[in-house]
Amino acid sequence: MRRLTFPAVVGHRGYRARFPENTLVSFSAAVAAGADMIELDVTLSKDRGVVVIHDDTLDRTTSGSGIVRETPLHELRRLDAGTWFDNRFSAEPLPTLEETLALVATSGVLVNIEIKSTAWETDAPEDAIERQVVAMIRRMQLIDTVLVSSFHPGFLENIAALPVHPEYALITNRTVPHDIVDLCTRLNVFSWHPHHESLKQSDIEAMHQSGIHVFPYTVNNPEDMIRLVEMGVDGIVTDDPELAVSCLTPYRRSVKTS
Ligand code: G3P
Ligand code: MG
Repeated sequence: MRRLTFPAVVGHRGYRARFPENTLVSFSAAVAAGADMIELDVTLSKDRGVVVIHDDTLDRTTSGSGIVRETPLHELRRLDAGTWFDNRFSAEPLPTLEETLALVATSGVLVNIEIKSTAWETDAPEDAIERQVVAMIRRMQLIDTVLVSSFHPGFLENIAALPVHPEYALITNRTVPHDIVDLCTRLNVFSWHPHHESLKQSDIEAMHQSGIHVFPYTVNNPEDMIRLVEMGVDGIVTDDPELAVSCLTPYRRSVKTS
């Protein structure tokens, strides 16, 4: 991974507090706000294109309806992914991963690609989403720019088995497994992304002893941001990168990560 300033500010779905999540305008705004990394969610279209959207269905964040994985790419591309948030964003398409990476590649920001668990395929076909993601970032020469994350450890194991691969991260929800340090160590992750409410100081210390970074999500309240940074986290995932940059600036130091 390229140079990162700690504690890092990770823009959750871009700049979700003020822009329609997981759209190009949201990603550009997060970069402009000073985020060190942007987080986005990917899944597959019916014809196995890698697209950027959080939900399994189209209904909440687009002008369409139905299941993303049952909709072909050309239909997804016709949807409006901005008006649900505000009429000002009616021109925002549902992005492909490739166009998103092309947009942010020159900005100097790192990218956290979260592969949704529902895209998991046990039989790991040649065009499984994790393989497509890694092939794309290799082709675009972004291996050192991307962190791949998932709640599903199988994606991380499959990525680790590829001859050239990016760093990767395990996300967990509030119910943290008791052997989380062992699991992260076994998977050889770059970072652990816990829900911030379940994070304990002892977990942060144990992760650090194993050389694993800790990036809790989704932290939007300034008191929580400062409390977590004082507990020793390496960054926070937030809907409001501008607020986080201003809260965390007194704590920030530049460190080379690899
Ligand atoms: O980065 C962690 C966070 O994005 C995981 O949850 O549901 O917002 O994708 P979700
Ligand atoms: Mg996510």
